[in-house]
Amino acid sequence: MTTSTAAKYGIARRTVTMRVNGRDVTREVSTRTTLADFLRDELDLVSVHLGCEHGECGCCNVLFDGHSVRSCLMLAVQGDGHAVETVESLSVDPTELHPIQESFAEEQGLQCGFCTPAMVLRTKEIIETGHEMTDAEVRHEISGILCRCTGYQNIVNAVQSAGARLRGEATADGAGGGRS
Ligand code: FES
Ligand code: FES
Repeated sequence: MTTSTAAKYGIARRTVTMRVNGRDVTREVSTRTTLADFLRDELDLVSVHLGCEHGECGCCNVLFDGHSVRSCLMLAVQGDGHAVETVESLSVDPTELHPIQESFAEEQGLQCGFCTPAMVLRTKEIIETGHEMTDAEVRHEISGILCRCTGYQNIVNAVQSAGARLRGEATADGAGGGRS
């Protein structure tokens, strides 16, 4: 959009700096740009999936200062000075899976994969609370993200398996340990 068009319609632009996946990024953005659009369109972080775009499905969730937020409901300018993590941050080497991603693959905690980046990030957040969870507790903790495919049980299994891996416990298939 040209400056004159922006001026005509009163669309303000601001410079924002945020830490995204461990890297400081600075961009000039429209004050109307959502955090989701900023991450996808400006930074190519296309793991941020837009489903409903009004706060219902949770598929756009990212970690904002370590906590899940719906990036479709936030503006990019609200991220100024904050830290954002998307699922791209989990593996330094894109050919390697993070233990949480391995657990989702092994437990078949995904089908189409649309909700999966949000589920994986939520799992990271849950595990960082440091305690083992029952099925019912996991179901409660992931209830803000809608999955249209799995029936949830395999996701619950994946969350519990990932927790065991990251706590260094042996899992049913004998895998254990892993990185944080
Ligand atoms: S796309 Fe953000 S909650 Fe559905
Ligand atoms: S795996 Fe398809 S929406 Fe969850």
